[in-house]
Amino acid sequence: MGTVWYRRLRRWLRARASTGTGDLVGARYAGHVLDNFTTYQRLLRGRLDHFDGLRVLELGPGEHLGVGLLCMAAGAREVLAIDACDELRARTTAITEMYMALAAALPAGLSRERFDQVRVAGAPGPLLRYLPNLPIEAARAERIGHFDLIVSTSVLEHVADLRAGLHAMYDLLNPGGWMAHCVDLGSHDRYERSPLAFLQTPTWVWQLQFGNLGGPNRLRVGNYRRLLADCGFAEVCVSIEQTFPEAEVRRARPLLAPEFVAADDDDLRAAVIFVCARRPPNAP
Ligand SMILES: C[S@@+](CC[C@H](N)C(=O)[O-])C[C@H]1O[C@@H](n2cnc3c(N)ncnc32)[C@H](O)[C@@H]1O
Repeated sequence: MGTVWYRRLRRWLRARASTGTGDLVGARYAGHVLDNFTTYQRLLRGRLDHFDGLRVLELGPGEHLGVGLLCMAAGAREVLAIDACDELRARTTAITEMYMALAAALPAGLSRERFDQVRVAGAPGPLLRYLPNLPIEAARAERIGHFDLIVSTSVLEHVADLRAGLHAMYDLLNPGGWMAHCVDLGSHDRYERSPLAFLQTPTWVWQLQFGNLGGPNRLRVGNYRRLLADCGFAEVCVSIEQTFPEAEVRRARPLLAPEFVAADDDDLRAAVIFVCARRPPNAP
């Protein structure tokens, strides 16, 4: 009886929130993939200036391996992409179209020859591997090895246990290895009535609505700064790239859920953050 009510409550709560879906593949999407890649290059500038010979781990590639292909074209030795789900729809027309559009728009310094080699060899293939159903929290070096670079876009905000995820990334990096992440701290189209309304829902209700659906974990920029320090990362840089309007922050504040009442202005303003950090070179 209790289970029936629990299911009904969950269905009702989900129906009250709108969820968005996106078309993540196709030629139109190539621009987004190029943006992701050039953002990593920009974030790493002056820290890790080239991809030559690197072993790269991409978290949560979603429905395509476009970023991995670009890393290979930039000279990476090997790319492994892992995802908590199995979203990759290999050999669909849309994916092929997207890869063709990427090839046509390769940024300067990337090798078309290498791009074609990896793509023709099959994506995924031996140099560009894909492991589905492996959340970062459960990834271990004994199984997938160590990496020089870990990247992700719009993934960390979905990681259910980010502390465990960051510990895993630390262990997966070679000493001195870098990571670069773009993190979307927005509502992901939940509660469209205002961009910060999703912070007014208590955690227990949020868990009921989106807990098992990969909804955002709602961690704020301060949480990221603290977790990165706690997990032992060095040269940490967390920059706020996009903000919510000040008027929305003022509007949301009086009705925040108890969990967010102590949030400072940065925690509420930050809509998109970039994270860059490294495992200390002399780490044991
Ligand atoms: C919003 S999509 C982003 C896809 C792609 N990176 C992009 O920019 O279009 C989030 C992806 O992260 C994956 N993901 C969520 N939690 C994860 C975790 N704990 N470990 C690895 N991947 C995860 C999801 O399955 C999904 O493919």
